[in-house]
Amino acid sequence: MEIFHISAECYPMAKVGGLADVVGALPKYQTNAGHNTRVVVPCYDTKFKNENIFECVHWGTVKLGNFNFPFNVLKESTNKLGYELYLIEINELFNRPNIYGYEDDIERFVAFQIAVLDWIIARNKVPDVINCHDHHTGLIPFLLQFAYKYENLKDVKTVITIHNGLYQGWFGFDKLYYLPEFDLKHVGFLEWNNCINSLAVGIKCADAVTTVSPSYLNEINYAANGLEGLFNSVRNKSKGILNGIDFEVWNPLKDSMIAENYSINDFEAGKQKNKEKLCEQFELDPSKPLFSFIGRLFDEKGGDLLPQATALALSENFENLNILILGSGKPEIESQLIQLRTDYKGNYNVFIGYNEDLAHLIYAGSDYILMPSRVEPCGLNQMYAMRYGTIPVVRRTGGLRDTVIDFGDDGNGICHDQASVGDICYSINRGLKLFADKINFNKVVQRGMTADHSWERVCQEYIEIYNLIIEKNEI
Ligand code: GLC
Repeated sequence: MEIFHISAECYPMAKVGGLADVVGALPKYQTNAGHNTRVVVPCYDTKFKNENIFECVHWGTVKLGNFNFPFNVLKESTNKLGYELYLIEINELFNRPNIYGYEDDIERFVAFQIAVLDWIIARNKVPDVINCHDHHTGLIPFLLQFAYKYENLKDVKTVITIHNGLYQGWFGFDKLYYLPEFDLKHVGFLEWNNCINSLAVGIKCADAVTTVSPSYLNEINYAANGLEGLFNSVRNKSKGILNGIDFEVWNPLKDSMIAENYSINDFEAGKQKNKEKLCEQFELDPSKPLFSFIGRLFDEKGGDLLPQATALALSENFENLNILILGSGKPEIESQLIQLRTDYKGNYNVFIGYNEDLAHLIYAGSDYILMPSRVEPCGLNQMYAMRYGTIPVVRRTGGLRDTVIDFGDDGNGICHDQASVGDICYSINRGLKLFADKINFNKVVQRGMTADHSWERVCQEYIEIYNLIIEKNEI
């Protein structure tokens, strides 16, 4: 089957969060399973773009209302990623270092979606499935069905995968003229709360809706930033599919970004070496238990709770605890975290920014990974951590609920229910006690290391959905 994944992010071309990891991995496994899988993302000015060779396979002009932007479709020449990667090059809109955060983000991603479809229709070969990811690609299922110029693609089946329902790509009807002409009697599909809501459009018009974990699918029926009712109404075409992780990239035995490779057979010694390297870099004491956080510093991830929870946990356990944070996000959270460095020197440190190599070393060298998320559609960090023998400390929500079981129930992690400073500190204290009980600590580690979160199995679940919508029009 010919499958297109359309997304704003794809690792290693362009990454902000977990969306990139999923779009960079799932297609590889779909290719391995015998499908022709292609990924299409905008052509940003990133390291990967600049260091790799691309060939131009199509060019045209994308029309966005009164504006006309020349565009090229570039194909990565070697297919070394395990699937065909295509970049939509619209220099005026995407030749910039960042992926999001510009005033014209709406124009950028609407133009991207139109250019993608202009190219697909020009190929004269109709794909079997287009899998859209998040709101940046939510207009595609609508345009395919109703825009006159894509008439020949109208029967292509579409799936929208929701990685984060908080962001929805809203814009006013004053920009309706950006869209290619369509029969106005269908305009209602575009509307949600008096706006054009790209994510809602995708949910309404796609043949199937997937979320990145089963629990998240349940949760968005009552908490989805205004889309609860819509999610309820499409329940019969929705499915929660837990993400996998790329076992080839995330393998402590082969990982070249860490200080010492190890497996479940020698994890104690291996992890200790990594911990020493990490602690040396951040002036911490490798004999103390190390709790780390990796991620975006936003309320959604519980980032706002981190400064206070860190201060409280450290002041209670100064003799016996290290905390390390890697991330960037809200400026006020960043500055509070930087401030804590002076108060807790030797026990705490923070790296503001993101660094893939450092993230790998943190997974390898930490004892615990903190994930106090308010919302977590799937969460990949807990799975990376477990694979590297690091115990996740999580709030039970979304995919965290589906992957982490408290060690009190013979599980692989530490869980709490509230997104609060008190709950985080309580869990840290439980972690400290467990750390002192090496036999049980190691059992929890081993349970995590043997969990099967590989993509092979997950990839099949996506293919089943594609087959169902192709054969029966329903899932
Ligand atoms: C988003 C979600 C995260 C999920 C990832 C990949 O970043 O916030 O929970 O794991 O997408 O699906």
